[in-house]
Amino acid sequence: MSKVFVTRQIPQPGLERLKEHVEVEVWPDQDPPPRSMLLERIAGCSGVLTMLSDRVDDEFLDAAGPNLRGVANFAVGYNNIDVAAAKARGVHVGNTPGVLTNATADTAIGLILAAGRCFRPAIHNVEKHQWRNWEPMMFLGQEFEGKTLGIIGMGRIGLTVAKRMRGGWGMRILYTSRSAKLQAGRDLDATHVQLDELLASSDVISLHCPLTEQTRNLIGEKELAKMKPNAVLVNTARGEVIDQMALANALANGQLFAAGLDVTTPEPIAADHPLRDLPNCLILPHIGSATWQARNQMSMMAAVNLLAAMKGTPMPFAVSPA
Ligand code: NAP
Ligand code: GLV
Ligand code: GLV
Repeated sequence: MSKVFVTRQIPQPGLERLKEHVEVEVWPDQDPPPRSMLLERIAGCSGVLTMLSDRVDDEFLDAAGPNLRGVANFAVGYNNIDVAAAKARGVHVGNTPGVLTNATADTAIGLILAAGRCFRPAIHNVEKHQWRNWEPMMFLGQEFEGKTLGIIGMGRIGLTVAKRMRGGWGMRILYTSRSAKLQAGRDLDATHVQLDELLASSDVISLHCPLTEQTRNLIGEKELAKMKPNAVLVNTARGEVIDQMALANALANGQLFAAGLDVTTPEPIAADHPLRDLPNCLILPHIGSATWQARNQMSMMAAVNLLAAMKGTPMPFAVSPA
């Protein structure tokens, strides 16, 4: 019987679907398998259901061996996978687009509001029993009504954030993407601009591009210097898109107002990284898609992807090499 290895515990729907057809082994611990253990467990498998933290490269593919038909990532982002290397061996690669769009967009909006309204130092104030009085001058933040939102990467999640902030807050929308989005122009009056213009004109900047060689360190010292001093920067894309040391300096120097990060590099961010101690930097442990609805559907999509590959048919949610 074909065997599938699932590198972490995931919601049941997909596991049940897989178990109807194949032998399934799920890594039982809360922490991921150490690399050597992972490579051991995937040996001889026809399919592997991977997390975004599992590196799928030649070493991984060698360890799995010639039975491997498919790798299904439990994520929409697939920068952890060398798709070309997999394709070269006839291994199908899939992801989970769409079902986590709303959940991740909501996380980005939560970070915009929380970072822009100083929730981190305010929560700290209560937790540390420093709350004395109603304070007319404490934790003063930003308002968003009628301001400008810059979306970097106007794909599924970026568009959803733009729609919500346009509809709810009446924000003007600027965006960068590889291609202009006609419908966003029509429906949201969104304008496709160069990065420099977006950086200089936006009150809120939200990152929604994939991590690629083009987007690695896209936001560095030079780009941060172009932002408005009251700007709020939010990252739910990938940590590597921002030069984190440059961001820490910019936040400490008041070059921008605040940042909200759902993703860092590495994850978790280093214990002594200066971003951890800045009150105007709010960090979440990569919970963008963490709703039951999204994760149940991601589980099913990954299962359906693997079963298709093992039948020798294309995955319904397949990714292609960059
Ligand atoms: P998507 O629909 O593929 O959207 C990505 C967008 O980025 C596309 O519009 C693409 O432009 C644009 N893009 C690509 N290269 C760019 C560049 N160099 N500069 C500016 N824009 C660029 O993907 P999605 O489903 O919205 O997901 C986006 C990313 O969010 C994922 O890749 C993942 O890394 C991250 N994510 C994180 C979480 C989380 O838990 N925090 C959850 C889900 C996703 P074109 O349309 O013109 O090609
Ligand atoms: C999460 O980060 C994803 O890419 O799905
Ligand atoms: C604040 O609580 C107010 O009433 O303005």
